[in-house]
Amino acid sequence: MAESTGNKKIKTAVFISGTGSNLNNLIQFSKKKKSPVLINLIISNNPKSKGLRFAKKFNIERKIFYFKKKAYDEKKLLKILKDRKINLICLAGFLTILSKNFIQNFKGKILNIHPSLLPKYKGLNTHKRVLKNNEKYTGCTVHFVSAKLDSGRIIMQKKIRIKAKDTPKKIAKKVLTQEHKLYPKAILKIFNL
Ligand code: GRF
Repeated sequence: MAESTGNKKIKTAVFISGTGSNLNNLIQFSKKKKSPVLINLIISNNPKSKGLRFAKKFNIERKIFYFKKKAYDEKKLLKILKDRKINLICLAGFLTILSKNFIQNFKGKILNIHPSLLPKYKGLNTHKRVLKNNEKYTGCTVHFVSAKLDSGRIIMQKKIRIKAKDTPKKIAKKVLTQEHKLYPKAILKIFNL
């Protein structure tokens, strides 16, 4: 991982597709003195992402990429990231799968948050599948992104107990609350802070 250099914060891009509660949370974290990161750029694959409102609110540059012509868009995006000297990418509810080439260009510098206790329940609809399988626990995971979906090295996890009356919606809410605690903690951990 890139070194956090004294008083200079790591320029970070957050990639989103939806509500952006993790993005908002990371922005709040980045404003704290102890944070090694600064959120400089927001990328979305969806112009309707609710989370894009945080770009305006906090005066952060935002860009939309549809990734329809994936190789072309990724090349353009890589140039923007390099021009802005972005040194860390945090995926936060980002639904496009990045190519191997893109990931290699940011090797060890892309993080993701996933709403399950990986390696269990990779992919989408985790809470529904967890309930269907009568799991006792679920949770969330922050991990490095590798070319294989939801399979990169795990940085931190938080486990929560599933209750008898839980629904996918209830679990999603509980897990999201934990995600907001876990992502900043995992960032501090990779910078040995
Ligand atoms: C989170 O549960 C995240 O783990 C998953 O998608 C959700 C995104 O929520 N990948 P938000 O957009 O950060 O509110």
